[in-house]
Amino acid sequence: LRHLTTLENLPRETIERLLDRAEALRDACAHGTRKLDVLVGRTVLNLFFEPSTRTRTSFELAARRLGADVINFDIGLSSTSKGEELFDTLHTLEAMHMDAIIVRHKQSGTPDELVRHAMSGVSVINAGDGNHAHPTQGLLDALTIRQHRPDFENLSVVICGDIKHSRVARSDINALSTLGVKEIRLCGPAELMPTTEDVPQGRRVDDFDQAIKDADAVIMLRLQKERMASIDLPDEAAYFTHFGLDRRRLALAAKGCLVMHPGPINRGIEIASDIADGAQSRILEQVGNGVFVRMAVLNEVLAR
Ligand code: CP
Repeated sequence: LRHLTTLENLPRETIERLLDRAEALRDACAHGTRKLDVLVGRTVLNLFFEPSTRTRTSFELAARRLGADVINFDIGLSSTSKGEELFDTLHTLEAMHMDAIIVRHKQSGTPDELVRHAMSGVSVINAGDGNHAHPTQGLLDALTIRQHRPDFENLSVVICGDIKHSRVARSDINALSTLGVKEIRLCGPAELMPTTEDVPQGRRVDDFDQAIKDADAVIMLRLQKERMASIDLPDEAAYFTHFGLDRRRLALAAKGCLVMHPGPINRGIEIASDIADGAQSRILEQVGNGVFVRMAVLNEVLAR
């Protein structure tokens, strides 16, 4: 694998190889091996045009743990603000011999555009583009589920919330479908659901009580207000009543149902605080797994 811009059409064996490697790195870390030198002399650049806490920090940590040098490109202080075109920025950075560019951008398709315009051997890794894809989130979510429930063929997974605007949902659906989960159920307000042309997979269930019934994992999504026109904004209290995860609703799921959320969470809007912090919550495990998945991806694209 030279670039990672999407999980769509990525072969099952590639996804499983990345998850196996992430798991091995997690085990090694648990036994005290926190630093490796497989990427010494390589340079990784974080190019984030949208805010991030988890993805940007964990990519930096992952690269450093593999021995790479890391540059965090500050968009606000860059010549982007002087009108430099994205591809001129790309070529400028390539001239400085970057080995990998990790990019987040509000425009869907930007990472693939960078791949098409790259003139050097630089690897491009998508850290989230518009509502298109967030492949490392899809991998870390699959890893978190596999850690607890490796029997994918028996699993019903619910994704609930603003699926229309969610790159996480699309990458989760790609990963979980490829890995053979029994059923993916999609739930959310009609105006925040994708069309079947846009997202063909997943059974649409309008009512969250029905959707979560006997589910083995539930992935909650926040309202992505930054991608909505103000006219689309739902009333938050009404939203929680219909689509919020609380104790009563979680009791409808299968025993031990995994509670997941890519973050950032909005307490009291899509998830109750006691559930986000409760015994079934895997939210911080997802964050931890993000470092190992990103180490596995960097190792895959750069250790060649
Ligand atoms: N899940 C996720 O992408 O979080 P950040 O926006 O904090 O990176």
